[in-house]
Amino acid sequence: MAIDVSGLRAVVTGGANGIGLAAAKALAAGGADVWIFDLAKEQPDQVAASLGVHGLPVDVTSPASLETGFQRAGEVDIVVANAGTAQEAELLDTTPEIWERLLRVNLTGAFFTVQAAARHMLPRRRGAIVLTASTNSFDGEARLVAYNATKSGLLGILHTAANELGPYGIRVNAVCPGLVRTRLTTGLFADDEAARAYFRQIPLGRGAETEEIAHAIAFLASAYASYITGATLLVDGGQTAGKYGTWNEQRAEFADSRWRLKPNS
Ligand SMILES: NC(=O)c1ccc[n+]([C@@H]2O[C@H](COP(=O)([O-])OP(=O)(O)OC[C@H]3O[C@@H](n4cnc5c(N)ncnc54)[C@H](O)[C@@H]3O)[C@@H](O)[C@H]2O)c1
Repeated sequence: MAIDVSGLRAVVTGGANGIGLAAAKALAAGGADVWIFDLAKEQPDQVAASLGVHGLPVDVTSPASLETGFQRAGEVDIVVANAGTAQEAELLDTTPEIWERLLRVNLTGAFFTVQAAARHMLPRRRGAIVLTASTNSFDGEARLVAYNATKSGLLGILHTAANELGPYGIRVNAVCPGLVRTRLTTGLFADDEAARAYFRQIPLGRGAETEEIAHAIAFLASAYASYITGATLLVDGGQTAGKYGTWNEQRAEFADSRWRLKPNS
């Protein structure tokens, strides 16, 4: 069940792991010529080779590094600005270093990526850019003030870029995942009590797998989304819709990292 993106060239930042890796796989399965950009220490060339796609060491916090990557990739149709990181700290414990690091990677890095993508797409009057934002673009999840600020900030980039680039046939959208099983979240998925509490608020009763976010990214990048720009697509199992809680022990059981209705419910 691949989304058709054949004949298109796609760049995925942060594509060596997690959501980005799944997006690279989904776009490759849909027929795109995929370029994975990621930090050298994540060996994007080797990850890419194992998938039969291209990989380059690119640091999204450096415009020069991005420009070299885009020059190597050539004419690009799809750019997924996905590179990001997280670090938990209470508001009062959030040091200038934590704040600045998260802003640099998640917000400034995404801005530089969108700028570079736009520069390369403008002459051809077409393209699709997808940002990986978050439910935290809208929510004030505790212990994540710097992360939340970056993900809210992405909406400013999203709306402005969609407005300015629309006349050139370039669409800009964002996926807003809820909790996804990646190395950023292994702790929560492995902690049964924490997962029970977190997933209690999620109508579908569980966290997401990376492929479930990747399909939404591929959709927004594809021609099936030809009239969609400036949009945020929540991919959160209903978490935002059901914010007052869905599951309880009277009618449901929590096992294997997810809630399920009891047989007679
Ligand atoms: N995991 C979740 O629950 C979740 C939920 C919502 C949004 N997100 C967002 O999804 C995106 C991907 O996160 P993930 O969970 O797959 O994490 P991950 O750590 O598995 O992948 C992130 C990738 O970004 C790369 N990266 C970091 N800094 C970079 C830089 N300066 N230049 C280039 N690449 C860089 C990392 O090397 C890594 O490969 C992030 O933007 C994250 O904020 C994640």
